[in-house]
Amino acid sequence: MSKTLHKKKTHLLLATVCILGLVAALAACSPPAETKKEDASAGSKQEVKMPEPDSFGVITAEGWKDIYPDQYASYQANLSNAPGAGKHDYLELYPALNTLYAGMAFSKGYEEAAGHLYTLDAIRTTPRITDKSLANCITCKSPQFTALVNSNGAAEYAKPFAETIALMTEPISCYNCHENDPTKLTVGNKFFLAALGNDVSKVPENAQVCGQCHNEYYFNADTKATTNPYVGLAAMAPDAILAYYDEMGFSDWKYPVTETPMIKIQHPEFETIYGGGTQSNMAALGYGCSDCHMAPATAADGSEYTSHEWTSPLENQGLLDSTCKSCHPDLKKQVADWQATEDERVKAISLKIEELAKKMTDQVNAGTLAGDKLAQLQKLHRNSQFYWDFVMVENSEGAHNPKFTKATLDKAEKAVDEALAML
Ligand code: HEC
Ligand code: HEC
Ligand code: HEC
Ligand code: HEC
Repeated sequence: MSKTLHKKKTHLLLATVCILGLVAALAACSPPAETKKEDASAGSKQEVKMPEPDSFGVITAEGWKDIYPDQYASYQANLSNAPGAGKHDYLELYPALNTLYAGMAFSKGYEEAAGHLYTLDAIRTTPRITDKSLANCITCKSPQFTALVNSNGAAEYAKPFAETIALMTEPISCYNCHENDPTKLTVGNKFFLAALGNDVSKVPENAQVCGQCHNEYYFNADTKATTNPYVGLAAMAPDAILAYYDEMGFSDWKYPVTETPMIKIQHPEFETIYGGGTQSNMAALGYGCSDCHMAPATAADGSEYTSHEWTSPLENQGLLDSTCKSCHPDLKKQVADWQATEDERVKAISLKIEELAKKMTDQVNAGTLAGDKLAQLQKLHRNSQFYWDFVMVENSEGAHNPKFTKATLDKAEKAVDEALAML
């Protein structure tokens, strides 16, 4: 699929004008009370009626289709990123995962992600949902759930999954990132804004809207509310997150036999790019998620808009040529190298953690591992898998921040090596 790209928004300029400029540009758009649209064929301004919200208070994607036909059409193009065919089955790709995730839901099924339009299908069919699952599992799957939480409060998280999912009809759509006003960016998940705390102005809005779901979270033990394990960018680093979980005595599950209190990391894209105070090179240059994943495009009538087809920048030759080439003569090769380095180490370290889990299991079963030594090994088991998973489940396979990825894998390897040396 070829897209003509407009070059007005040069990213070098973006780098200097940076965060404030972006926010200002978006805020400068006209308010939506009376939404207007250029009618190119007639060459005149045409009044278009504001669409009606649904019973959740959400204006659906369908509702916006006549007012924003180009954004809507590109949004619909995400249907081509379907689950199933061509997607990785991680349990087959990394057989050690069956051991590493033993005793928890990811060992039942773990497929590569699909596009935003498939979130409701995916959550309805994943073997990771059980009778005990709660509505909090729908947090990042439908704007209707976001609207329920924002109007009724945190009690929505604790309702039974089956009850709430039955009400949902809209996968991720406009409301998640714009609420009911597409001329502005608005983060729907307020818990994420709370987690950014006073640093909210340090991150461009076009990264916040993605970061609100592409992040590491847990469910509060009492309220069941979706919560991030940090407040502020400095606390968004793996060491600090681990300390946070340690302090609250948190674990997602107990590893079978060894009883190690394990942590399951989610999809820390945002933390990988922005966390810990040392941003990725591209974030430091002022690039937000949408600058790489939502390229500018030109409509049939020559007007410019932002493509809402969320793809890999490597699949967009137009973007590579217009924006990236000046600094990355061969970005595809560079990314392939970063990803190969990550993949090799993720595999190698997973084998070491598998060896550790198996040896600990054997020795606990044989009655030769207990007490202080078991406690020490449990800690190393927990820590090594925490750092390893932080990289494993990040969706860019190292490309978002190769330096951070290496540092995090070094910590995983150090912990597992130390543990293996004790056995
Ligand atoms: C409301 C939550 C939510 C928001 C907001 C969100 N995402 Fe996603 N995203 C998801 C989920 C959930 C998936 C996985 C879908 C599945 O497999 O069911 C996903 C999948 C993706 C994929 C496809 C992954 C693949 O391997 O094909 C890309 C790319 C992506 N998101 C990028 C973005 C970008 C860029 C933004 C911001 C402009 C963003 N997302 C905002 C929740 C969200
Ligand atoms: C996952 C987040 C996300 C979703 C979902 C989303 N948008 Fe956007 N939208 C963005 C971002 C990010 C930008 C601005 C990009 C920039 O300038 O940095 C944007 C920009 C826009 C704009 C401003 C004009 C333009 O093209 O740049 C309109 C209008 C718009 N979106 C409409 C929609 C409509 C209609 C839907 C639903 C069919 C939708 N958006 C869904 C993230 C989203
Ligand atoms: C500097 C450009 C850049 C920025 C900024 C960026 N990404 Fe990416 N992203 C990439 C590259 C490169 C890949 C690897 C693509 C591939 O393997 O084809 C990727 C992969 C992904 C994937 C996996 C989907 C796929 O098609 O492989 C997701 C999901 C994703 N990014 C989300 C995000 C989110 C969320 C943010 C912001 C918090 C973000 N990205 C910021 C460049 C970027
Ligand atoms: C002004 C120069 C410049 C432009 C333009 C540029 N990059 Fe970069 N990018 C860099 C530098 C410098 C690095 C550090 C690694 C290196 O030296 O290649 C980097 C690193 C990256 C990384 C690794 C993650 C990170 O931030 O360290 C990705 C992915 C990436 N760039 C993608 C892109 C994409 C996609 C585009 C076009 C949309 C782009 N870059 C445009 C300068 C640039």
